[in-house]
Amino acid sequence: MTTVSGNKGLQRENPMPTITFATEKKEIQVPEGANLRKEALAAGVSLYPGVHKVLNCHGMGSCGSCRVLITKGMENTSPRGLLEKARMGVSMAYIGNEETMRLACQTRVNGDITVTTCPATNLYGENFFS
Ligand code: FES
Repeated sequence: MTTVSGNKGLQRENPMPTITFATEKKEIQVPEGANLRKEALAAGVSLYPGVHKVLNCHGMGSCGSCRVLITKGMENTSPRGLLEKARMGVSMAYIGNEETMRLACQTRVNGDITVTTCPATNLYGENFFS
């Protein structure tokens, strides 16, 4: 839907959210409430490292391999559900990334976000054993 607002000319009302994939330098627009995993895969963005490209739970929220970092716009995503909280609770990769890490398959996009796919696990970083 478009509206004309004052002298600013034509402005869009309720524009579609934009997902920016930082590593891939790719932007896509998606319907509000879209599933992050489905939209990434449809856009040809690889979410899975290594063998997980084949061996993953296909969006059931149990394997943890679709984890991403939401580096901007976390407030524009759906809240973590019980399944995601439980899965992240047993993930070493989550340590030190509690504010930004999400499972793409459990994340709905309600506004603009920036995503880093396949984040490295920082096994030797200062946050790991603290
Ligand atoms: S695809 Fe397995 S947890 Fe998301």
